[in-house]
Amino acid sequence: MNEIGDYRFYDTRTEMNRLAARQISEFISYTLEKKERFSMVLAGGGTPRAVYELLAIDPTICWDKVHLFWGDERFVPLDDARSNFNMVRESLLIGVHFSLENIHPVNVDLETVEAAAENYELRIRNFFDEQVLIPEFDLVILGLGSDGHTASLFPGTAALEETSRLITIVETPGLPPKVPRVTMTFPLINKAKKVISLVSGEEKQAVINYITHHEGKFPASMIQPDSKDLIWYVSGT
Ligand code: 6PG
Repeated sequence: MNEIGDYRFYDTRTEMNRLAARQISEFISYTLEKKERFSMVLAGGGTPRAVYELLAIDPTICWDKVHLFWGDERFVPLDDARSNFNMVRESLLIGVHFSLENIHPVNVDLETVEAAAENYELRIRNFFDEQVLIPEFDLVILGLGSDGHTASLFPGTAALEETSRLITIVETPGLPPKVPRVTMTFPLINKAKKVISLVSGEEKQAVINYITHHEGKFPASMIQPDSKDLIWYVSGT
């Protein structure tokens, strides 16, 4: 098995979503017993949507103390169907009263994706403390692609080699239109106190099998938080 990672397998997404949402909710409450704010990085894609919807109706979460960031974002308007912010708006933000200062999306209105990445990195540093070399998010939620990518850390991209920047840019692989993306890097993700990866679908099972047996070199295999607190929630459906 991979040296780090608690792998939890479920027969249905409903069961996975319920238990993942409970784990997130309990961790938020546990953390807020000891500190005034909770910094949470959200994944995009489709799997997390149902978990976010469950979190939105959880009465125990003190959302006014929770700050939301995005692990990656496509460089499209925030109301674009491809936007990860838009997915979170539809599944979580719509159900919870959030103060604007608690929501930290990538600024996709800037001229270039490079400017968006630099701006996002600066805002993350300012949120924590610019003196800290690599900020520590309380929780990072990730997904997994069938090619082993996570966030927008795709196989074969220079983003995998980034060792100092918190945020970098990536071009979406595959056929055009190649929407540029902004993504958190491994140094930032691996500094999180807890990492939860939400994985669903038959097409992910092969890559999960490799990862759990520490075989193959997938980007997601490089998620190795210093805290060693990494939980994989996996559903075959
Ligand atoms: C994105 C996500 C991406 C996603 C995986 C899995 O912007 O698309 O950040 O990394 O998490 O592609 O997506 P699904 O959960 O929809 O399979």
